Amino acid sequence: MNAPIKKIVLPVAGLGTRFLPATKAIPKEMLPVLDKPLIQYAVEEALEAGIEDIILVTGRNKQVMEDHFDHAYELEKILQEKGKSEALDIARSMLLEEGRISYVRQMRPLGLGHAIWCARKLVGDHPFAVALPDDLIKGRPGTLKQMVEAYNTVGGNLVATMNVSREDTSKYGVITPGERSGNHIAVSGLVEKPHPEDAPSTQAVVGRYILQPEVMEHLNKKAIGAGGEIQLTDAMAELIGDQPFHAIEFEGTRFDCGSKIGWLMANLSLASEDPMMANEIRQLITFR
Ligand code: G1P
Repeated sequence: MNAPIKKIVLPVAGLGTRFLPATKAIPKEMLPVLDKPLIQYAVEEALEAGIEDIILVTGRNKQVMEDHFDHAYELEKILQEKGKSEALDIARSMLLEEGRISYVRQMRPLGLGHAIWCARKLVGDHPFAVALPDDLIKGRPGTLKQMVEAYNTVGGNLVATMNVSREDTSKYGVITPGERSGNHIAVSGLVEKPHPEDAPSTQAVVGRYILQPEVMEHLNKKAIGAGGEIQLTDAMAELIGDQPFHAIEFEGTRFDCGSKIGWLMANLSLASEDPMMANEIRQLITFR
């Protein structure tokens, strides 16, 4: 039987330069889509998938995320006194049992692979999930749950993928696809941000992964890859051949909330499904 996925690493140390000046004093992961910060969507998706331990890889000026997952005593007291029980429930909805959420600092911006490596002591010798909170994925069930279900069948390592246009391959990790069975595709190669003419396919990796702990040994080499950074994609590529590796073409819609247009689309899409807002949004804009 495959060891269960009980841990997730959420890298949240990025600078959010594409969202300046909004992200000058607040982390990009705290940008709200409707009423919830991006980080909360990622944590909720992990909990839905049965994941118990949440590991945030943070950086300087990210402390507000720790506060988000803690009591806000003054606020809770005022809401209680005013009898605002609904608001109180919302304020308390993200309180995980103590010890289930941990924080580790990435002290230097050396890349996604380095961020994941910073969590190695907390991950230990267990398979684990990774989610990039910028990638908000609307899907039922959530993408992580879809992946855990696939993992229970195929084991090993998994990445979530979607088909992109060839000119966009240079924005993503891209797989060399092998045999396909339903929405599972065997992965025989992985490359980070290839030029469109060099891309082995148009199946692009989105920010959801299930990884075996051995990936940390490859990250430990700290090899410099695309963009001069330590890339998770390169370490994952080294696992291919040694361990099963699959891509899951997930069901859902992914929004790149690290970009203004992606964030705006996510807001509009979720608002158009909210009974309180749907009519006004539809009047404002025709949205699929
Ligand atoms: C990261 C990964 C890339 C992946 C992408 C998905 O890139 O390195 O392989 O396709 O996330 O969002 P980034 O967007 O951080 O440059």
